[in-house]
Amino acid sequence: MNKDFLKYQAQTTPHPLGLEVESAKGSYIFTTDGKKHLDFVAGVSACSLGHCHPKVVNAIKEQAEKFLHVMVYGEYAQQPAVELTKLLAEHFLKPLEKTYLTNSGTEAIEGALKLARRYTGRAEIIAAHQAYHGNTMGSLSLMDYEERQKPFRPLLGGISFIQFNQEKDLQKITKKTAAVILESIQGGAGFILPKNNYLKKVKQRCEEVGALLILDEIQPGFGRTGKLFGFQNFDMVPDIVALGKGMGGGMPIGAFAASAKVMDTLSDNPKMGHITTFGGNPVIAASALATLKEIVSSDLMAASLEKEKLFRKLLVHPLISEVRGIGLMLAIIIPSEEIANQLILKSKEKNLILFWLLFEKKAVRITPPLTISEEEIKEGCGIIIDVLEDIMKQQETVN
Ligand SMILES: Cc1ncc(COP(=O)(O)O)c(C=O)c1O
Repeated sequence: MNKDFLKYQAQTTPHPLGLEVESAKGSYIFTTDGKKHLDFVAGVSACSLGHCHPKVVNAIKEQAEKFLHVMVYGEYAQQPAVELTKLLAEHFLKPLEKTYLTNSGTEAIEGALKLARRYTGRAEIIAAHQAYHGNTMGSLSLMDYEERQKPFRPLLGGISFIQFNQEKDLQKITKKTAAVILESIQGGAGFILPKNNYLKKVKQRCEEVGALLILDEIQPGFGRTGKLFGFQNFDMVPDIVALGKGMGGGMPIGAFAASAKVMDTLSDNPKMGHITTFGGNPVIAASALATLKEIVSSDLMAASLEKEKLFRKLLVHPLISEVRGIGLMLAIIIPSEEIANQLILKSKEKNLILFWLLFEKKAVRITPPLTISEEEIKEGCGIIIDVLEDIMKQQETVN
């Protein structure tokens, strides 16, 4: 299959990992060579309930038998999308209330940017250095990374940048600013948590100048940090929140939410300020609804903090300088990019799936399904420690 994969399917890198997937269940992916791989990545934080959770699969099957796509987004009332947005409203903190369902995280970001410009009547958007918000033109414009932006210019105008966690930069937010957009926890930059009430201070500054604060919850969202949304760990609420990844339980979805006062501006003047054919698709919404119900009615959120403790206890080794992050959004920091690469590739040979972060090359991602068991955590951490031991011995021999 890999030969055809490389020949016919457009590639994102010259060296894809290329596991040939046969099936997946719980915390494991089964490949066509008969191997079973423990998944510490969960589709890059997307498979919040593990692979093929029975409640998610049943919800998809039941909905698929009732109706599939019937109309473009926003015209007909369809129960899965209505129930999903209602349940979200019950779990959001005020003023967040109304949700627009999209097809992906990056489309949620595009919608959030448009909403902020439409509501404020201002153009300037402020993003953070080393942020990642997706890959469509608007989201890419928020990525202050020359190598990635250069071939695709001209990008969106009116974007400027601040340093995450840098309070003196808050003065750059002015009455010209439509919105500040930040990840609640910076992902690609190395799982950087906001410090010293940073998010609260950004929100205060936005309020002073009449700008909106958009928080990108696409990675921390949906229970991974011990709370439903990452920002709930920092005692504040944004004006607009962007959602995605873990929301769908393994199906493609995104969303942006705001107060009714802000959100309603997108449906008027011009009418259809943001439209999509498949956003809110009933099968996808049914999957997201089953996922959300399971996350909020089980002990998975609280358990993610206990599981974090177990990871921290087990991931102790001279080559690990730090375990960063919160809950099941963790990254281990390794002395060099080369050792991080070796750890990921050698763990793959031992049937443990790990992955890189986008910008912080010395980090190795650990974002397993929320449903991962203690035994599975012990099994995977055992492999990591064994691989690091091998790497250390090799280094000693070379030296
Ligand atoms: C923080 C963050 N924002 C936005 C996105 C984009 O989401 P999608 O890939 O669904 O477009 C991602 C994806 O990795 C992300 O991690």
